[in-house]
Amino acid sequence: MASIKTVGVIGAGIMGSGIAQVVAQAGYTVVVREAEQRLLDTARQAIDRRLQRAVEKGRLTVEDKAALLGRIRWTLALEELRGADLIIEAITEDLLLKQDLFRILDRLCPPSTIFVSNTSSISIVALASVTERADRFAGLHFFNPVPLMKLVEVVRSIRTSAETFRIVSDFAVSLGKEPVTAKDQCGFIVNRLLVPYLLDGIRALEAGVASAADIDKAMRLGCNHPMGPLELADFVGLDTTYAIANIMFEEFREQRYAPPPLLKKMVIAGYHGRKSGRGFYDYTGPMPHTTDLGL
Ligand code: 3HC
Repeated sequence: MASIKTVGVIGAGIMGSGIAQVVAQAGYTVVVREAEQRLLDTARQAIDRRLQRAVEKGRLTVEDKAALLGRIRWTLALEELRGADLIIEAITEDLLLKQDLFRILDRLCPPSTIFVSNTSSISIVALASVTERADRFAGLHFFNPVPLMKLVEVVRSIRTSAETFRIVSDFAVSLGKEPVTAKDQCGFIVNRLLVPYLLDGIRALEAGVASAADIDKAMRLGCNHPMGPLELADFVGLDTTYAIANIMFEEFREQRYAPPPLLKKMVIAGYHGRKSGRGFYDYTGPMPHTTDLGL
């Protein structure tokens, strides 16, 4: 079995920075690549803040925090991922962007490097097939917030070898995660069930069933969900939710995946949820409050 020591993470957004943190926490050397220095800095600060909180709570020593941060290298240069044994792609949910990236990586990396994508809805075989290593290519889908969520979906495409699948599953376990195996079907397990639910929450708001706050409160207190559907859509990112829904609708042509017009309008308006400061809720003040959408 190939032994994994150095892991490349491409994309340092909410998912990429969380992935980089848990991989470094598990003792691996991590090389994180972003296209812009500003995004690298934001990710570095986010990890630092989370670890500092762990130090303050007595869950991590100052020395362990320094050692963990020392295992992460930050770079703008894709070439620095050449030495990685495993590369995790966590860039924007866009087929062509991801394919372009994997074409470049395939030329850059030795044949032994395993590629995985953190895609939540794009077909793994469609990404793998632009490389010469489709047998050493799998899906590894993490959940937000990555340091807290136990689940990882491990996705085997029709071209993933049994050995690659085993290595990637073992790697997920080594991160302290609980893997589930999913076929290479759009949305895998979680998003197949979650996305229609989030969209239904938005449809309920659009139909005037109740206010955003009451829809969320109903699901929090009525079903014991940690977040209601609108809060959760804001948390995932409305742009991301919209992209995933479109990909799933395109794939299955089923109404339940069709993004409601309100979601589209919010994305166009730049209301991308928590990360942009505004979505169904406004996060710019000390306490979130519902955004006035004129509904
Ligand atoms: N990153 C890391 N740690 C976080 C965090 C984050 N984003 N948000 C909260 N935490 C930590 C806090 O620091 C705190 O730690 P402490 O014990 O040291 O104080 C602890 O979590 C609890 O914090 P809070 O009391 O503020 O938060 P909650 O108890 O309200 O829990 C939550 C926050 C875990 C995010 C919870 O609301 C939750 O589980 N929400 C649902 C998340 C979910 O469903 N995720 C899946 C989304 S789908 C997805 O990712 C797939 C994609 O393809 C769409």
